[in-house]
Order: sequence, then structure tokens, then C-alpha cells
Amino acid sequence: MIVLGVESSCDETGVAIVKNEKEVLANVVATSLKLHSRHGGVIPEIASRMQLESIAGVFTEAVKIAKITPEQIGLVVVTSHPGLPGSLMVGISFAKALALALNKPILGVNHIYSHVYANLLCHRKIKLPAVALVVSGGHTSLFYIKDFSNIQVLGQTRDDACGEAFDKVAKIMGLGYPGGPLLEKIAKGGNSQKIKFACSGAGNELDFSFSGIKTAVLYYLKDKKKCIKLNKDLAASFQESAVNVLVKKSLLACKRKKVSNLLIGGGVAANRCLREKFMASAKLAGVHCFFPDNKLCMDNAAMIAGFGANIYKHGARSDFYLDM
Ligand code: KG4
Ligand code: ZN
Repeated sequence: MIVLGVESSCDETGVAIVKNEKEVLANVVATSLKLHSRHGGVIPEIASRMQLESIAGVFTEAVKIAKITPEQIGLVVVTSHPGLPGSLMVGISFAKALALALNKPILGVNHIYSHVYANLLCHRKIKLPAVALVVSGGHTSLFYIKDFSNIQVLGQTRDDACGEAFDKVAKIMGLGYPGGPLLEKIAKGGNSQKIKFACSGAGNELDFSFSGIKTAVLYYLKDKKKCIKLNKDLAASFQESAVNVLVKKSLLACKRKKVSNLLIGGGVAANRCLREKFMASAKLAGVHCFFPDNKLCMDNAAMIAGFGANIYKHGARSDFYLDM
């Protein structure tokens, strides 16, 4: 079946066309990131206005790239939660109008679970059950995936998300927005052992907490004189501490659930230091670790279409009263 996916949960507008749950025929993403960077964070009103302006064009381009006619679409899948309300409404309204016009079913899906599914678009040999870690700008969660219709939350952040902590630390260091990739760049060549930051756990051993480490960076910078060398070491030390806690808790979850497959997704999964540390530690623990390609780590509609196609096959349904 050919499935059309729509993603508009934050500042991106994505439309993708996926065949047979895994074959990406088109994956078009427009972003309003540049408009937000001067404000140091996403401004919801700007994001939804841009999405309203761009979504029809993104759809037309996706259909053209996939070389299909809209009539060939068998199902329309859209991110229904979580996300910015104004942004979600643009995608949901567009998807409803399209499904109605084509007389096809509509399905609303969870954005975070879709980040895990992105792995299945890139790797053919993934076996379930698996443990999954989603590390994005809005979420840091560990899941047990028996199958994609059967997902159990094992742990989540009690405060800031991991990507949010990267963004806030980058902001404190005056690096700009979005901070994750900028912080990774400056951390290159820095001494990651120079400063010891403790990433405290929360009550549940599989929960996360990133707000303490962000504050520790703030106080460290207040104490010291800023210089480029110090910034490199600071960025590398922060990155090291944040990644170490992700690795430790993910492998603990694999051990507890007795699984040997670990699926990682979300924007922060594009971080090279994170990928290298996960690969090395997972190998020692006898765990196979999977990441989507960089483009599919970021918000996109291919993961929405693929995930939707998978759970639709297993009976998931929505109707035209679909809401956030
Ligand atoms: O998954 P995503 O595109 O959007 C959400 O669903 O939130 O993730 C965006 C987040 C931002 O916080 C961004 O700074 C972070 O992912 N990010 C990174 C890197 N690339 C993106 N964080 C660390 N290192 C990176 N290379
Ligand atoms: Zn996301």
C-alpha cells in the first residue's frame, strides 16, 4: 500500500510517501528554523504560520518526487500528538482535507514512537522485541517495543529533554540556535575529561534528569573566565556526561528486559559522539545498536507514514473527528 505521511509537530513541515511500510518514495521537509534562530528558540506563532504557507507546496513536491498520482494513496497518516497545538492543527487539517477529497482513511499517530520507527526505514534486519531510546528536543524516553502496536514506557525525563539541555547549554555558551549541532562542533578536539559534570538520576533508575547539568554549566561559566580553549573543554565535558547517562540507562533497560536490540532515534541521535559511545558500549554488552540515517533522525514525515502503515495493518484506526 502507498501511504502519505504528514508531520508538523514543531518547526518542520514534512510530507512523505512510503510504500509497503518501509520503502521511502519521497520525503520532503521544509523548515522555518532560520526564522526562529534570531529568537534563540522556536516561536510557535511563527512556526504555524510558515507551516500554513508551505504545506500545500511540500505536498505537491512529494507527489512529484514519488512519481505517483494522489489517487494511488491508500492511507493518510498524520502526527496527532505530542507537539505545538497550532502546528499540529495545520497538519491535521491538511491531512483531513486530503483524505476526504481522496475518499481514503486517515490515521493520527504518536510523533515520539515514529522516531523509533525511523530505524526500520534504514535497517532491514531489526528484530523485535527491542528497547528504544528517543532523544529529541522535546523528549527523552526509554521504551520496550514488543511490536509497534505494543509499546511500554520504561522511563522518561523528569525535567528537560536531552536536546533541550544541548540547546540551553549552547545558549549559555553563546553558540546560537539550535544548539545541539553547534555544541557538537565546538566540542571537537576539546578535553571531555576536563570538567566532571554529574548527570543525576531520578527516582526510577530508568528516568532521566538534565536540568541539573545545565545549571552546573551555568555556574561553572560564571566562575571562570571565558576563553575558546575553555569553551571547547566545557562543551566536550557536557556532551560526554549527557551521552554517558543515556548509554548507561539504555543498556540497563536492555539488561532488565533481556533484549539484545537497541533502537535509537530523535534529533540528538545524529550526534557523532553519542553514536560512537553507544556502538562501543553496546558491543561490550552484546547488544546490537541501530540509528536512523541523519536525515531520518530529525523530524520528518517518512517515519510518520511508515509507523502509521505498520500499526494500521494491525488494526489502528482514526476517524474525521481526529484531534490533538
Ligand atoms: O527530533 P528533533 O528534530 O525534534 C524534536 O522532535 O524535538 O530534535 C531536535 C533536537 C534539538 O534539540 C537539536 O539541538 C538536537 O535535536 N540535535 C542535536 C544534534 N542535532 C540535532 N543534539 C546534539 N548533537 C547533534 N548533532
Ligand atoms: Zn521529533
